[in-house]
Amino acid sequence: RKVLHIVGARPNFMKVAPIHRAIRERGVLSQTLVHTGQHYDVKMSDVFFTDLGMPAPDIHLGIGSGSHTEQTARVMLELEKVFASEKPDLVSVVGDVNSTLAGALVAAKMNIRLAHVEAGLRSGDHSMPEEINRLLTDRVADLLLTPSADADANLLREGIAPSRIRLVGNVMIDSLLTAREQALRLPTLKELGFTPRHYAVCTLHRASNVDDVNTLRGLLSALAHVASRLPVVFPVHPRTRKRIVDMGLGSTLERTPGLRLVDPLGYLEFLALTSQARLVFTDSGGLQEETTVLGIPCLTVRENTERPITVDVGTNLVVGTDPARIQQAADLILDGHEKKGRVPELWDGRSGERIARLYEEVLGVGDAPRRA
Ligand code: UD1
Repeated sequence: RKVLHIVGARPNFMKVAPIHRAIRERGVLSQTLVHTGQHYDVKMSDVFFTDLGMPAPDIHLGIGSGSHTEQTARVMLELEKVFASEKPDLVSVVGDVNSTLAGALVAAKMNIRLAHVEAGLRSGDHSMPEEINRLLTDRVADLLLTPSADADANLLREGIAPSRIRLVGNVMIDSLLTAREQALRLPTLKELGFTPRHYAVCTLHRASNVDDVNTLRGLLSALAHVASRLPVVFPVHPRTRKRIVDMGLGSTLERTPGLRLVDPLGYLEFLALTSQARLVFTDSGGLQEETTVLGIPCLTVRENTERPITVDVGTNLVVGTDPARIQQAADLILDGHEKKGRVPELWDGRSGERIARLYEEVLGVGDAPRRA
């Protein structure tokens, strides 16, 4: 019985690695790892395989960048051939990127059993490409594996049968817990001249934030304010770097006191930085969850989140994109009024194992089912 995993973009790698490892260690199912090539820079892709101890992909499609339609369609065309030759019994997709949707649609069209890991997250914002990817992937998935109970509730509200939904916890946190000690041994902070808790980390790449000049300018001015109070390191996503150059904002940023722009970092180096930061300033989805587990205050510079549990129980604050509001929230934290949180249930490092067991169960092999 064979599981075929699809990865494509940076946030997929840390979700698939623990599932792939658990299946390998249990030795019951066979598996194929397909990389679509949606992300292709060494710093956006290869470094994660090394850092996460994941084997190189068995198949690489080399799709690259393009419009959403082009990218999704090209992945679909190639995946159809791969599914026909590999004949998987189950296709496993994770997250909400274009490669996720492409894999889901092809599996559904070819009548192959489909599992979606990280199912049920909803921002309610249909202008967000990831929201479309989430909705459609969940619609066609046979098995919807959720990270938290709010996701189950979303799916039930959309009329998905309860028998298709399983709460397995947050698989990305498996990677974090596995790598944390190793990350803390790296000299990353020292090399940047930082001391623990005396710097902030920023990431920005969401299309709605970086493709609009006014929004991006506003966010960067709020960031400059944070940087006037403590050093900020900003690993710049390729999409964001292009926009900064196109909009002529590069020289201002380079001259901003306290702000350090660097290339995208590997998984371990980045974890070394976030886990010891005073504050994280981001529009990422995954970082909202990682900071909640690490207990680090997070300012999410978006109008909404598909991960409300990080706000309800974790350290995350969704502060929108108005610079005055962001500065106010940052000042509160830096003045010592930070939000405390706790780790959501089942974000315990065992999700990969639960998923591997479930795949065995639905494929009719392995042990008797255990509560997921
Ligand atoms: C994608 C995901 C997003 C995820 C993000 C994480 C979708 C719809 N979006 O956004 O959900 O949070 O990945 O990084 O799937 N580029 C490079 N090198 C690369 C990859 C991209 O230079 O290795 C540049 C290209 O100019 C490309 C642009 O970045 O056009 C955007 O890449 P794309 O994969 O379309 O979307 P992301 O913004 O990375």
